[in-house]
Amino acid sequence: MSAENGSGKGLEYIKQGVGSADEKGTGAAMKREAEERARLAARGGAKGELPGGAAESPYIQIDRTLKRCQYSQDALIEVLHAAQETFGFLSEDTMAYIARQLKLPPSWVYGVVTFYHHFNLKPQGEHTCNICMGTACFVKRAGDIVETLQREFGVKAGETTADGKLSINIVRCLGNCGLAPMIILDGKVFARQTPESMLQHCREAVEK
Ligand code: FES
Repeated sequence: MSAENGSGKGLEYIKQGVGSADEKGTGAAMKREAEERARLAARGGAKGELPGGAAESPYIQIDRTLKRCQYSQDALIEVLHAAQETFGFLSEDTMAYIARQLKLPPSWVYGVVTFYHHFNLKPQGEHTCNICMGTACFVKRAGDIVETLQREFGVKAGETTADGKLSINIVRCLGNCGLAPMIILDGKVFARQTPESMLQHCREAVEK
């Protein structure tokens, strides 16, 4: 999904960007982190296995990447990738944790996450359809594609269908305007689509 879709009260302290995560909002974040650990551990069953093969801590994969990169601030994107691979999205707590570990202002981490459409701020469905709404794609009916998918799947852009099958997201220019309107469905590029063709692709994906 587009990072544009993620916001909320809990992010306010990050958006304000004052000080480090240790100075602002940490109490609540730490509490949620503990809850996230408990929730993920419960999901992992008796073995305590977690998404991405992690164990014990939901942040173990992130910690491994941090260690490998020697906690270099330049490794921020790599660490964010590792976090998203583990959780499927980047929660407020995860961003705050990474900011703390890399000693970066939370606002910096949030700014990077929201700049790249690759990063998700909300949990995603089984399938993800990212529709470019940059100028070139917009003039080639990307808006009609969004409307058609919203109507047919009964979900708003930025959200996931009730059955968790499909997330529809609007993203900024994907950098290949010659392919407009361009859509990325489950990581695969679909160029010069129509509302009808994209609806067909999405139906095929969710019915698999
Ligand atoms: S506007 Fe869609 S790829 Fe550039």
